[in-house]
Amino acid sequence: MKVLLVLVDGCQAQVCVSFTDMIHKIFDHNFFIQFQALDKEKFYSEIETEVVNNFNEYSWSSKCRVSTTRLNLSKYIKFLQPNVDEFSKIIGKNFNYRVNDMWLNTYDYGSYQEIHDHVPADISCVFFPNTGEKFSEFYFRDRSSADVSYKLKQILNLYDLWTPSISSGDIIFFPSNMLHGVSCHLSSTLRKTVSCDIIIE
Ligand SMILES: [Fe+2]
Repeated sequence: MKVLLVLVDGCQAQVCVSFTDMIHKIFDHNFFIQFQALDKEKFYSEIETEVVNNFNEYSWSSKCRVSTTRLNLSKYIKFLQPNVDEFSKIIGKNFNYRVNDMWLNTYDYGSYQEIHDHVPADISCVFFPNTGEKFSEFYFRDRSSADVSYKLKQILNLYDLWTPSISSGDIIFFPSNMLHGVSCHLSSTLRKTVSCDIIIE
């Protein structure tokens, strides 16, 4: 970051000094990791065999408009495992884990998901088999947004909404406490995603 304007004895002065080393960003625990899922074609083919019954199997999405179908872990773990290993490699940490739950979200026209988190899981992930025009978008919201004043947000260009640019076959991993949602689906093509919750042991 380069700071070009400073106050000197109450007056403004132009300087061209980088203050990067003087700015200490702390408590930076919001992140997501995105890559093309390993074995994405096989993963997608398997998902296509699932029967979508337009039924919501989870109480947490009772205020959403989305079809959720619980997936058989023993059937899908072989697709998830290499991707968790890749995530582990990217963060440079090995950890033991178990998959708490895995489910298929299906969005028809007008479907969406309210902002939510996946507490008490530790890490959550979403696989995006298909994308398209007017598809709904996965987005993050900053849980701590209200902790910063409006004016400070303006002068520091702080933001509280982030929409990842998703390609078909992408998978993202993020801390389960991060708030996220899905905007309204405005395509007649079914949008499918697979979500899962991981518990660190
Ligand atoms: Fe979610």
